[in-house]
Amino acid sequence: MIVLAIDAGTTGVTALVVTENGQIISKGYEEFAQHFPRPGRVEHNPEDIWQATLSACATALRDAPGPPSCVGITNQRETAVLWDRRTLAAPRRAIVWQDRRTAALCGRLREAGHEPRVSELTGLRLDPYFTATKLTWLAENDPRVWDGVTSGNLAIGTVDSYLIARLTAGARHVTDPSNASRTLLYGLESGTWEPELCELFGVPEAALPEIVPNHGPIGRTDPSAFLGLDVPISGVAGDQQAALFGQTCFDVGDVKCTYGTGSFVLTNLGDRIVRSGSGLLTTVAWQTPSGERTFALEGSIFVTGAAVQWLRDGLGVIGTAPESEAVARTVPDSGGVVFVPALTGLGAPHWDPQARGLITGITRGTTRAHLVRATLEAIAYEVRDVVESMGPEPGAVSVLKADGGASANDLLMQLQADQLGTPVERPAVQETTALGAAFLAGLGAGVWGSQAELRKTWHLERRFEPGERDDAAYERWRAAVRLATAAAH
Ligand code: G3P
Repeated sequence: MIVLAIDAGTTGVTALVVTENGQIISKGYEEFAQHFPRPGRVEHNPEDIWQATLSACATALRDAPGPPSCVGITNQRETAVLWDRRTLAAPRRAIVWQDRRTAALCGRLREAGHEPRVSELTGLRLDPYFTATKLTWLAENDPRVWDGVTSGNLAIGTVDSYLIARLTAGARHVTDPSNASRTLLYGLESGTWEPELCELFGVPEAALPEIVPNHGPIGRTDPSAFLGLDVPISGVAGDQQAALFGQTCFDVGDVKCTYGTGSFVLTNLGDRIVRSGSGLLTTVAWQTPSGERTFALEGSIFVTGAAVQWLRDGLGVIGTAPESEAVARTVPDSGGVVFVPALTGLGAPHWDPQARGLITGITRGTTRAHLVRATLEAIAYEVRDVVESMGPEPGAVSVLKADGGASANDLLMQLQADQLGTPVERPAVQETTALGAAFLAGLGAGVWGSQAELRKTWHLERRFEPGERDDAAYERWRAAVRLATAAAH
């Protein structure tokens, strides 16, 4: 039996074919266009995401030994998508999680005193990152489209819902608790859409998807829509929760960090809703078909791998992202250069949508190698900021499981272990996000019987032990972060 996993990420769609013993036998990947219509705005054309999904799946299945037993989906979270219930066409581009256009709206809601109640209900905060204010913006600024929402012709969802609608040719309008818990509309305690929040953000509840468990019967692909295949969709989760699942972080206190465009540190909280006083989010990790929910504490860092991309595309100081390691290794340290990559504001634990990136400590002797090394160090510092907010005391995290594209960078992994003062473990399969979607789908369709069985498929590739840690450099980082925040402008 084989499982097809679809990972619809922020910059592209990955499709994996996974065997019963957790091995990846084939893969497809397709990028899609990013739209930046104005500074701070980020949009995707939903049709592009769908076409990339079809193409990535066709590639992955071309070399597969047969049709998959089931399909699992994971996705970039929070992004607001609208589509016509009948034709499935999107009337406008989606507003992406990175989009900052609702910063002022969030500020107004905060000034009106709504934040404590919103946080109490959702475990989140008033930040443009989450879905709800993007929908309020549409209601206020795109009345033609919003009329379609209020009249019932248009459906609202995140990327998971949109893909399930496309895969089922419109038969299903559903989401799961891990994605729902990122919208600012889902009650962490109640486990349902909250009428009070729908009212506050002006979102008609009838336009929202039905919330279904993360594994089990979710829908069936329609052969006329999806590569001639009629198979169950039996797993779905937001990408960071899927990565937590793919890393088999099933026990309370297990922590993973996925190094992608941004980096997202999640720790398993078990069945307890623990609230953070220090800038972390509380979110649903997954829900079983019998209704048991596992929660997670999350530190969402918006720009990490994207800072390396900026070195490549914005500055042209490296040719490829992997080259960053070789260039950074040509110098023993960053020579006092500190780079705060607040390129789309700052997420956890600082939460400042107005923050801007900065580079400090440049001298006549500074070279590109120092800047590249400072970028890798910045990623390690950003993750340290979040991990230190997680436990009652530094070091409470006993091991960090790393995955995602930049986890292949040995220097970054070593810097991370040094900064945290705890070991960092890298699994044999670093496509953990898609693997998590495959695990959920396989659990839902009976390919695997239990979490214990899945755990046996996790294998360590390399463990990075902490070495000496440069606390003076970390203090320089903290000072630079203070300068990057809006209060300093
Ligand atoms: O919350 C945003 C996150 O889901 C995006 O992840 O890997 O698509 O950049 P990624």
